[in-house]
Amino acid sequence: MQLKRLTAFHTVAQLKSFSDAVSVTQSSQPTLSRLIKQLEDDIGVELIDRYHRPLQLTPAGRFFYEKVDTILKELDSSITLTQKMAHPPDTLNIGFVPSVLYGLLPTIISRLKQRLPNLAVHLKDISSFKQVSALKSGEIDVGFGRFAHDDPNIKQLLLRHERYVAALPNSHALAHHQTIHLSQLQDSRVILYHQTHLPAVSTDPPSNSLEADSPAQISEPLLHLFAKQSALPHQTTFVSDIQVALGLVAAGEGVTLVPDSLKSVRTEQIHYRKLIHEDATSPIYLCALQNPTHPALEIMLEVIYQLYEERGVTYRRVQ
Ligand code: BEZ
Repeated sequence: MQLKRLTAFHTVAQLKSFSDAVSVTQSSQPTLSRLIKQLEDDIGVELIDRYHRPLQLTPAGRFFYEKVDTILKELDSSITLTQKMAHPPDTLNIGFVPSVLYGLLPTIISRLKQRLPNLAVHLKDISSFKQVSALKSGEIDVGFGRFAHDDPNIKQLLLRHERYVAALPNSHALAHHQTIHLSQLQDSRVILYHQTHLPAVSTDPPSNSLEADSPAQISEPLLHLFAKQSALPHQTTFVSDIQVALGLVAAGEGVTLVPDSLKSVRTEQIHYRKLIHEDATSPIYLCALQNPTHPALEIMLEVIYQLYEERGVTYRRVQ
């Protein structure tokens, strides 16, 4: 079966119009009709309902369209990835979650550029969750995020755990305490900002009350930490990202928890305080496709580990 026949059917079915498909494909209408008819003959199934205007697909045609759509997308990304493998790329596309930008990422990038002066580095702000599809489509070559993925095509290295700190407005009663227990923040409004949640492990029937939930049932990462101390906050506000959360803290609207590397943000209005809980940490993961991997990644890992050594950062080395 020729690819041309499949793409003719896909375009016509997607646009639901032969004349629109003519302008997109630069083929004539008789050519498109012939290719689709040949495809129908190949598989012995009528795909287009020729008795209706505007154009409609038969039920089998709709089913086939969904399958062909998936296959053509997969083919596109396989071609992109194969081309990258065959011609060693001079570009490295890096996806990252905003919170890692405040830590070591800028230094890692500048050292990588010193080691590989001909490499162009492009940075894209992408949530941990979306990094998986961005890796598969070839949009990024590597992703730095804070959540584990369970996908056989993705290779994932846990680089380190970063401690959370409490971000409190200057006026907060605990702003000058040395260390904070999460139960002390129960009466404050807690600002939540994670776009990706932990996998919920729910064994009991759902409950309407936050108070009744066990930590395993609470998938919002900050609430999960509070739940582990049996100290769920009484009031919460959800915002779109970590910068907005810190903006609200600066405005005195509440408190939040952020990874330690953000503690240099808005220090005129925010006090960052250590949490006494040693397990209140946020992981940093490096993710890439199992195959093929970008040739610059090995050097990037060397740069990361070297920086950890220099700065005395506790980390987990993977061979
Ligand atoms: C880090 O802070 O450990 C880190 C940040 C971005 C990429 C890799 C590591």
